[in-house]
Amino acid sequence: MRGKMRTYLVTGGAGFIGSNYIHYMFRKYGDDIRIINVDALTYAGNPENLKSVENRENYTFIKADICDKEAVEKVFAQNDIDRVVHFAAESHVDRSIRNPEVFVQTNVLGTAVMLNCARAAWEREDGSYPEGKRFLHVSTDEVYGSLEKEGEYFYETTPYAPRSPYSASKAGSDMLVKAYMDTYRFPANITNCSNNYGPYQFPEKLIPLIINNALQGKKLPVYGDGKNVRDWLYVEDHAKAIDMVQEKGRLFQTYNIGGHNEKQNIEIVNIIIETLQEMLSEDDPRKALVSKELITYVEDRKGHDRRYAIAPDKIRSEIGWEPETMFAEGIRKTIAWYFANEEWMRNVTSGEYQKYYEEMYR
Ligand code: NAD
Ligand code: TYD
Repeated sequence: MRGKMRTYLVTGGAGFIGSNYIHYMFRKYGDDIRIINVDALTYAGNPENLKSVENRENYTFIKADICDKEAVEKVFAQNDIDRVVHFAAESHVDRSIRNPEVFVQTNVLGTAVMLNCARAAWEREDGSYPEGKRFLHVSTDEVYGSLEKEGEYFYETTPYAPRSPYSASKAGSDMLVKAYMDTYRFPANITNCSNNYGPYQFPEKLIPLIINNALQGKKLPVYGDGKNVRDWLYVEDHAKAIDMVQEKGRLFQTYNIGGHNEKQNIEIVNIIIETLQEMLSEDDPRKALVSKELITYVEDRKGHDRRYAIAPDKIRSEIGWEPETMFAEGIRKTIAWYFANEEWMRNVTSGEYQKYYEEMYR
């Protein structure tokens, strides 16, 4: 007879990375796991991302805010949770510059609520935790700040130096997780990942924004000189890394996750335009719209971090994880997904998004 079915509590599973992670986990484990997805469905959370799993018996969606202690306590009280994978966050740097408070609320206070509830549910009287209970806090490389010199990388030992309200709030949440590990021996891991791209990414972020605008012949806004560098990772590789850290990682450790795929923003924009031109058929009316002439340099982001680059040595040597999707392949898969999901894009860019776009790029 098989043992008890393992139960995952995923927060923020209706967002970009969370929904990709849930799809990955069901593809990998099928009916052998149960997933409970707690998501407040902010502008960034979209139940459509999970349509293909919503009727599974081993999947439950709960609409709740992670800052709502009673709601989170109830989830732990009613379910024997083995693993927490904590994605829920406000995730967009530009929004954090315009409205920092909600970032502190969700990212810092929300993480405190998650930690407290998990600890209350799991900790035994003698301060130990049952075997197999694990909390994984999903974080970002942006907590390490901005690299200014060529050849420098972020290691797990790099001091934290966040520079945007977003990265400061994520750094705050990481510190709370570290405090729980040190103070209560709380069974957790932190992963700090570089920029992700792929299906279901909200078009406020660079890659889907450029794809969406280019296909409509709209201007392609490039901040500053376009030479800021990000280290891009295909989202499925991130999902796999998270699973491998929970399966094979040492408790209490931080693991950096990155693709060794550094590119300047302007290179990304050029690659997207070239790939769109290759992939669109001659008789597709959008083909004539896609052009490098759409590239428009706009005012730089305030405090714009120059370069991020992860050294993924630790996760490779300890756990055996490596990125599998090369950028040329990943960007084609991503564009193909957006081609096949035009309605998804239409739905997420109607309403609230229009208002954001107009204010942001005015
Ligand atoms: P996202 O903005 O696409 O999704 C966030 C999800 O969290 C949404 O479904 C939203 O509804 C939910 N949410 C927000 N506030 C909530 C609240 N108070 N209570 C419950 N749910 C709430 O974000 P993403 O890009 O998928 O990022 C997920 C996580 O990964 C974040 O913690 C982010 O910091 C981290 N991360 C992102 C990247 C990236 O490139 N996108 C890279 C490294 C780390
Ligand atoms: P983004 O996707 O917002 O991720 P992050 O800021 O978390 O790295 O931005 C990626 C890079 O692209 C960043 O250097 C800012 C830049 N950028 C633009 O040049 N134009 C845009 O319209 C956006 C959204 C981002």
